[in-house]
Amino acid sequence: MDSLLIEGGRPLNGVVQISGAKNAVLPIMAATLLTRERCVIRNVPDLEDVRTMAQILRTMGAAVQQGEGTLAMQAASVSDKADYELVRKMRGSICVLGPLLGRLRRATVSIPGGCVIGMRPIDLHLKGMRALGAKVQMQSGYVRVRGAKLAGAPIFLGGRAGPTVLGTANVIMAAVLAEGQTTIENAACEPEVADLARFLNAMGAKVSGAGGPTVTVIGVKELHGAEHEIIPDRIEAATYAIAGVATRGVVTLAGARLDHLAAVVDKLREMGVKVESHAGGITFQRGRSLRPVDITTQPFPGFPTDMQAQMLALLTLVPGISIITERIFEARFTHAAELVRLGADVAIEGPSAIVKGGSPLSGAQVMASDLRASAALVIAGLVAKGITQVNRIYHLDRGYERMDDKLRSLGARVKREPGS
Ligand code: EPU
Repeated sequence: MDSLLIEGGRPLNGVVQISGAKNAVLPIMAATLLTRERCVIRNVPDLEDVRTMAQILRTMGAAVQQGEGTLAMQAASVSDKADYELVRKMRGSICVLGPLLGRLRRATVSIPGGCVIGMRPIDLHLKGMRALGAKVQMQSGYVRVRGAKLAGAPIFLGGRAGPTVLGTANVIMAAVLAEGQTTIENAACEPEVADLARFLNAMGAKVSGAGGPTVTVIGVKELHGAEHEIIPDRIEAATYAIAGVATRGVVTLAGARLDHLAAVVDKLREMGVKVESHAGGITFQRGRSLRPVDITTQPFPGFPTDMQAQMLALLTLVPGISIITERIFEARFTHAAELVRLGADVAIEGPSAIVKGGSPLSGAQVMASDLRASAALVIAGLVAKGITQVNRIYHLDRGYERMDDKLRSLGARVKREPGS
């Protein structure tokens, strides 16, 4: 498996182009199953997760052509089954469930199961499908959903940790072809849900309120092909902003949206980072010294769990005590122990990481077991004295487009080392 060799200590400077959002494109690809007609998606990031989703859709009968930044997809006919072998590769693939139920009135999808960041249940997805009139059965590791007569309904989608992003996406996608009106309360407000609704509306659906807590769907008979441009990736953007601040450089994000980054920008400003939005993008520059902060992850528009690891890496560099509390995924601190190997002082107390920042970092071999944790280790490696080797970077390739190239273009010394 490839690894990344990073020679730390060089500031990142310059402009980085932000790619299309991974977590927007995956459900939008699944949504193309809702029509027989051809759909074209633009601003598609070149990512392993996108290739996996394309493979899943192909095995279900869809034609998928990948071009430079575009995807042309057509599901003239589609099978109702998504197998374990593909679903286990990527938990995001659960979002084929809603479109299959909507189009075929039946679906059999492997239950994704937990992963390194937590349990990742799908009970809320299924609660939504049941509310629409579907029968749900769990059998031999698969969830079978049948609903000859899907009818709109009021659905409350709140769980232990609040709303669910892909659960909201799944229920919207099942409801667009149901009969009558569905009202989802406590819907996830993430911009990726709003982007999905824009695509569905371009296909002829009637979805309103997406991006807010109440989403209304009025069912239609059928959907047609559509074209769509994916929103910029707010998590990729925030990752480069933090990498720039950590290395004492000045980084400008081109193509990012400030309104999607409010919680991260607010915390960075509280720490003493200057953030300026202008015609060329959003520029981040640290002041003379940074202050520690306390952060709790929350659903959008709160501080994103997908930025918790990268922020933790930054806070290990800031003298004083910072506390990060993780409220979305129960096991999302695997990066902490690896950061300690680089010299950071981090202790985990229940759902919180207590960071005593300011100890110098020095390069070492590290390994991360999820995407955002890997990004955190890269940020720490860019600062650490000497060489840091981040192993198993296939996690990064799943969710960051050409991260090594982008970092090099900002002045980092980064080399990809092919593994066995
Ligand atoms: N939850 C339930 N029941 C459900 C569904 C979720 O209890 O049926 C809980 C989860 O266990 C978690 C919370 O609700 O505690 C939120 O999970 P959510 O369903 O919102 O997560 P997701 O939709 O599976 C997406 C992103 C994740 C991101 C989360 C939270 C995609 C493909 N994935 O996952 O992205 O962390 O929302 O914002 O959109 C990543 O990109 O690295 C990543 C993990």
